[in-house]
Amino acid sequence: MHYENLLIREENGIIFLTLNREKALNALNMQTMRELGRFFREDATLRNGIKGVIVTGAGHKAFVAGADIKEFLGLSPEQGREMSQFGHDVFSAIESFPRPVVAVVNGFALGGGCELAMACHLRVAAENARFGQPEVNLGIIPGYGGTQRLIQYIGRGKAMELLMTGDMIDAQEALRLGLVNYVTPQAEAMGKAVELLEKIASKGPIAIAKVIETVNAYFRHGEDGFAREVAEFGNTTGTEDFKEGAAAFVEKRKAEFRGE
Ligand code: CAA
Repeated sequence: MHYENLLIREENGIIFLTLNREKALNALNMQTMRELGRFFREDATLRNGIKGVIVTGAGHKAFVAGADIKEFLGLSPEQGREMSQFGHDVFSAIESFPRPVVAVVNGFALGGGCELAMACHLRVAAENARFGQPEVNLGIIPGYGGTQRLIQYIGRGKAMELLMTGDMIDAQEALRLGLVNYVTPQAEAMGKAVELLEKIASKGPIAIAKVIETVNAYFRHGEDGFAREVAEFGNTTGTEDFKEGAAAFVEKRKAEFRGE
């Protein structure tokens, strides 16, 4: 598939997705959002056997500096709602992607950029990363899930503060608050993300997909996550992977999972 604003490279089973609008600090214009949606809903799902996806921003300054503010001018409330719903749908496709998605946050992750990082399953921040939801500076609120996911990661009190002040936090503070999984020097962030994906790739792939579904169920309004766990535990016990994993343990050898 052809993309204008995404660079997609697959190496050793890992897809490297780079948001490629460096001059605009990789701001998410509508074209980029459409491409992200197309990638996660169509392109990536057709690539069998991939270990996962790493999402990052082009250049050394920004992961993503937010939605493209230049496209906001003249937006009507109806268009605003449509834009927000579309963003929710795209980020939900990332959050529900059955293989792990890791954000390598290599600079500013503001507004829609912070929201994109939060929609990924794991986050590795470079030391120069900066996170924030500065929408109130523009007189709006976050529209791609920020008011909800920020609470999920860092709790209501601190989320309320960041959402109301629009303040940025650095990588170490993001680590302390639980917003990111790791902080590394900039040159090592990608390597850390690859290491995480390689480790996860050695586990049962169906089990990984079910972990993603079941954890997401906790946050889905109206869904009973405990009931989902019972159902999915039952489903995983019916897999060939489980037979192999249990047999490998007893035989004191490494499991060879086939995702069946
Ligand atoms: N949209 C469009 N263009 C952007 C942008 C954005 N979100 N962020 C940066 N750019 C552009 C700038 O306009 C500038 O382009 P020009 O050279 O053509 O003027 C270029 O990127 C470089 O940016 P700066 O000159 O501003 O760089 P800086 O180092 O001085 O500042 C920054 C960096 C602090 C990140 C600053 O660019 C900034 O504050 N950006 C906006 C951040 C923001 O408010 N994000 C939230 C957007 S709203 C949103 O995301 C809503 C939602 O939830 C969906």
